Amino acid sequence: MSNNIVWHNHKVTRAERAAPKNQHPCVLWFTGLSGSGKSTIANALDVALYQRGYHTFLLDGDNVRHGLNKDLGFSDEDRVENIRRIGEMSKLFADAGLIVLSAFISPFTSDRRMVRNLMPAGEFIEVFMDTPIETCEDRDPKGLYEKARAGQIKDFTGIDSPYEVPEHPEVVLDTSSQTVDQCVEQLLEYLLERKLIL
Ligand code: PPS
Repeated sequence: MSNNIVWHNHKVTRAERAAPKNQHPCVLWFTGLSGSGKSTIANALDVALYQRGYHTFLLDGDNVRHGLNKDLGFSDEDRVENIRRIGEMSKLFADAGLIVLSAFISPFTSDRRMVRNLMPAGEFIEVFMDTPIETCEDRDPKGLYEKARAGQIKDFTGIDSPYEVPEHPEVVLDTSSQTVDQCVEQLLEYLLERKLIL
């Protein structure tokens, strides 16, 4: 960071921005392998929250890589930078009072910890999509596992690039044994219990 940069505090707080929507700002961080259900569950929760009148925004790996992060690939360094930018962006959306749903493989523990540390306590909810790789590979919705096995994509998460399993996630979901509705229900209960939605 350059010198001579001064932080400006806003007059309207993040809690004040969120209050009219009966919600508390937070980031639900969906992490897991490709095909583990991150986008599906994040989208379904987004719809459920929207229908109940909450103000949300969904950030998704493929979409962010079309724009803000289109200069980044899948080397370890690029994935670190990907999550750094998305972490900062998620925080900004939360500062605007929103419930943010961020769905990224985010394979490295240190990057997920970095995003957690950006957020006030209790406002980072790590949602681990604990779907077995065999199920993800069977689904292979984009045909990427097949390409990775054939050596046509390199550095593919779970094949020749690591995924570090979260140690203390707030929520664990397994879409091989839970339906979409069950996952959404579990997440809504979590948000209600923690008074992140009223
Ligand atoms: S990361 O690791 O957090 O930076 O990845 P992310 O930004 O979430 O992007 C993951 C999506 O990119 C597609 N894709 C790959 N994923 C993993 N490894 C490699 N090499 C790769 N190449 C392309 C893939 O569609 C991922 O989307 P999801 O929704 O996870 O399947």
